[in-house]
Amino acid sequence: MSVLDADIEDIVVSAERIHAKIAELAATIDVDYADREPLLVGVLKGAVMVMSDLSRALQRPSTMEFMAVSSYGSNTTSSGVVRILKDLDRDIAGQHVLIVEDIIDSGLTLSWLLKNLAARHPASIEVIALLRKPDAIKVHVPVKYVGFDIPNEFVVGYGLDYGERYRDLPYIGRLRPSVYSS
Ligand code: PRP
Repeated sequence: MSVLDADIEDIVVSAERIHAKIAELAATIDVDYADREPLLVGVLKGAVMVMSDLSRALQRPSTMEFMAVSSYGSNTTSSGVVRILKDLDRDIAGQHVLIVEDIIDSGLTLSWLLKNLAARHPASIEVIALLRKPDAIKVHVPVKYVGFDIPNEFVVGYGLDYGERYRDLPYIGRLRPSVYSS
């Protein structure tokens, strides 16, 4: 239990369901990448929990890299302009890239990222996202592995923050309205 639990109105995806889903996705990825070693590219900061659990759930070897990006006004505009805060540490040409995301909201971040990474000539590029909000999508992005489709509501936990807090909760939940107003 965390003291942050008291701020949660209700749980949208339990820790048990998250772990079961990641195990299921990892088993699928192990089969799909039986003859290739995936390079997991985590998008900071939200993806750290998925990256950590997914990489350990995979039975086959993988390597990891991280990127940090900043979406300019993706909440208020649909410009989809993204700035790189931290780039990959290595060349991905010829690599089998698997982008690891916590959530696809509008899809703008991922759409930009796919184009950016594709321009670096990886051998293949796919996406895994734990969560997706179908009702919030502004741009279609091809996502091969999806954990859960959830309603278009603000959620926190398992990497997702409100004011940088709540990322460490082991489940996905909705905040109590009183948290926003305080
Ligand atoms: C979140 C999330 C995705 C992006 C999805 O990151 O991790 O990268 O937003 O939104 P989109 O589909 O509308 O583009 P955020 O910018 O909140 O940064 P964080 O991971 O550091 O919290």
